[in-house]
Amino acid sequence: MPQHTEAIAAARVQLVELIGTKSRGAQDVIDRFDRYANDLADGLAAVYDLNTTLPQLIEVLAANHLARDAEFQQRDRERVLQPDWFQRADTIGYVAYTDLFAKDLKGLNKKIDYLQGLGVTYLHLMPILEPRPGANDGGYAVMDYRALRSDLGSMDELKATAKKLHKSGISLTLDLVLNHVALEHEWAEKARAGDAKYRDYFYVYGDRSIPDQYEQTLPEVFPDFAPGNFTFNQELNGWVWTTFNAYQWDVNWSNPNVFCEFADIIANLANHGVDCLRLDAIAFIWKRMGTTCQNEDEVHAITQALRTFSRILAPSLIFKAEAIVGPTQVGAYLGEGKHAGKVSDMAYHNSLMVQIWAAIASQDAELMEYTMGRFNALPSSTAWGVYLRCHDDIGWAIDDSFAHEVGLNGHMHRLFLANYFTGRYAMSDARGADFMVDEASGESRTSGTAASLAGIETAIASKQAQRLDWAIDRYLCAYAMVFGFGGIPLLYMGDEIGMLNDPSYLKDEAKAEDNRWLHRPAMDWRTANKAASGELGDKAAGRIRERIEHLIATRKRIDSLHASVSTKVTAGKGHGVVIFERRHPAGNMVQVYNLSHTSRWVNRAELAAMGDRPTEELTGYAWDISQGFEIQPYQTLWFR
Ligand code: GLC
Repeated sequence: MPQHTEAIAAARVQLVELIGTKSRGAQDVIDRFDRYANDLADGLAAVYDLNTTLPQLIEVLAANHLARDAEFQQRDRERVLQPDWFQRADTIGYVAYTDLFAKDLKGLNKKIDYLQGLGVTYLHLMPILEPRPGANDGGYAVMDYRALRSDLGSMDELKATAKKLHKSGISLTLDLVLNHVALEHEWAEKARAGDAKYRDYFYVYGDRSIPDQYEQTLPEVFPDFAPGNFTFNQELNGWVWTTFNAYQWDVNWSNPNVFCEFADIIANLANHGVDCLRLDAIAFIWKRMGTTCQNEDEVHAITQALRTFSRILAPSLIFKAEAIVGPTQVGAYLGEGKHAGKVSDMAYHNSLMVQIWAAIASQDAELMEYTMGRFNALPSSTAWGVYLRCHDDIGWAIDDSFAHEVGLNGHMHRLFLANYFTGRYAMSDARGADFMVDEASGESRTSGTAASLAGIETAIASKQAQRLDWAIDRYLCAYAMVFGFGGIPLLYMGDEIGMLNDPSYLKDEAKAEDNRWLHRPAMDWRTANKAASGELGDKAAGRIRERIEHLIATRKRIDSLHASVSTKVTAGKGHGVVIFERRHPAGNMVQVYNLSHTSRWVNRAELAAMGDRPTEELTGYAWDISQGFEIQPYQTLWFR
């Protein structure tokens, strides 16, 4: 039985009054309201007083509908008819910092050809909204959600760029930082000026008693440069919740005004042509005493309300959850139980990323198989964001009990991985750096570009051709898993040419203490352009580009890679062999990867989903696998 009937009926009357029924766009919005009002009301009522919050939200909805371009409304209609647009095999993602990639938006417009040449259809521009001056956590401390970083361009230019991207078949993703704002944000300024309304936008405590209670169960995100979760502020005469850096103030999502403000921010971004919002640090937005204050039920109710709101206003917009949490928690971000189909459309597959690196280091995939087996099948209308590297450090998220199941010690394995990827481990060519060493356990997270972690930097320096061949093969094998897994593959800028660590951040005061900048180099356009036009011969960057391009082109024509189907991951009988099995109506696919540096044998029985003579899609050859076969070090085989 639908609940909230009266509130919904009143909201509908209010909506019709505000937007009318005459235009086609208004009629569409009302139809979508009728379709989704229950989801909206359920999400809101789980957290807020529906009778006061819903009318407030309808005002935001109406105003933003009236401001929405006809062009974007047309895009809305198209995507309502093709809701799987982002799940298709031909979706290729690319992640870039506007300044490091192209200086500014004007520059970016000129690089669209380059992205198209690579086959990109989805572009995530890293934090681009006005951050606080000075240190700003790579732009994740936003001061103004309605302005662009002034050196990058204006909101009008953003809209023009979005339209240009759309014409080129590329969707635009931006970050929505919703756990915190910069301490210079107007809400925080007003709170400090004594405005009670805005003080209530944050979590402020007069003394340490409550913060101390929370701290008992709260982990620390940046223990080195931002210890603790609360920061004393003189003007507020109180302790403010600051999960991340002291200059990032957590907002109070239990306040319905905060909800409506963010709904308005989302609508404004949608009205500038944004196709996907990356919900930054979404796991943290609800606080509950006695817990880690992550993954609370209210997070999903709030997401459902925001998602439904945007679905009514701008159904061409999707949500991507940045929830770096374990296998048993991440599923909820893609919609489980009562939230199925109603929250985020995409979520990052952090575990897969960690397991790929871990399998490379240990030349063993048993832990990968066990860990991946702990995930529920993803809802068929959603997609994983699959990646090898991003702008953040890699936290060695190895679950102790999972490790135990496969005969490993979780702590020792995490130590090993950090040692391996910083190159401290004698047999390793990886060249990463420790990020946030935990004094007590000795464990640490790791920074470094994918290429440097895969050993390419060391191999180039060694001038040994064989060593470089291996490093490149290792790198491409890992990336092949990203393109073959069947979500949206996200290529981090420069990875198509294997860019190496860049220590120049040390010269910039606002960046020096955060070594995540090591793996955020500025795009090397000389190399990238030459690689794109095939002028690099057998130089590493040229070889990498060619093979990435080939993976992309191959992926695009294999319908079985549509994201709606989950991949089953098993460890081959030969150590270091990983098998991805995708059973799909468009044809089964079995992918075999050898993440070890010696050749391995694969038994016929390990490819049960294949006939005796499948086609290996990367080469186009039919293989006779009836007697089993050998797989070369770091080789990738995509059978269909
Ligand atoms: C996300 C971002 C990370 C940032 C944090 C706080 O995890 O990826 O770079 O530090 O959120 O906004």
